[in-house]
Amino acid sequence: MLIAIENLDAGYNTPAGRQSVVKIGHLSIAQGEHTLLLGPSGSGKTTLLNVLSGLALPFSGKIVIDGTTLNALSAAERDKFRCQKIGLVMQRLHLISALNVGNNLLLTQRLAGMARDLNRVSAVLRALGIEHKAKKYPRTLSQGEAQRVAIARAVLNRPPIVLADEPTSALDDANCDTAIDLLFAQAHEHGATLVVATHDARIKHRFSRVHELVASK
Ligand SMILES: Nc1ncnc2c1ncn2[C@@H]1O[C@H](COP(=O)(O)OP(=O)(O)OP(=O)(O)O)[C@@H](O)[C@H]1O
Ligand SMILES: [Mg+2]
Repeated sequence: MLIAIENLDAGYNTPAGRQSVVKIGHLSIAQGEHTLLLGPSGSGKTTLLNVLSGLALPFSGKIVIDGTTLNALSAAERDKFRCQKIGLVMQRLHLISALNVGNNLLLTQRLAGMARDLNRVSAVLRALGIEHKAKKYPRTLSQGEAQRVAIARAVLNRPPIVLADEPTSALDDANCDTAIDLLFAQAHEHGATLVVATHDARIKHRFSRVHELVASK
């Protein structure tokens, strides 16, 4: 899906006042494009992905995804839009601790209104080398295993957009390659648009398009 950002000003209301973190005049990401958001810690990568996914609202400007102005929707409409269209790997993962790995993934199918598909759950976990963890609870996983579960969950429903925040930060080189391979393979298979935010230099060469964010003082 096409993503267009217009005159974006996003940040936080702090006790010291409004603090802008990301300002982008215009950025257009074509359908099926793989874009890397690169920037040092604090440059606003997570803030930008939060507004792109509709989890947060910008101070001003527009996020248009496939003709829908995301920030003009109500919170409930944004939640529905995200469940149906966006696969999200969050930096702090946010796996559901009360559900085992398999049920974390099945819940994602259910929230998107999709039919229960255990074969798909197994296939995605297998692709990431964690099929044997399907019955385990998130707290019993290593950080890298939990990160792979979050990636599996994001691609499970074959969403037209995948947004991934530091998806490889806890992965060794081999698993880093596997995770990026899977993100690319699923994006390619369904013409999905992929936006990955990172400061992981290992994956820079795999992206044809890099948008750099600069830390504000
Ligand atoms: N909830 C918040 N309230 C106020 N300021 C915040 C909040 N979250 C983040 N910030 C500030 O916004 C700036 C950008 O943060 P953000 O998390 O988007 O950076 P990042 O590029 O994702 O960094 P990292 O690589 O460490 O994940 C930082 O200066 C941070 O202190
Ligand atoms: Mg971040």
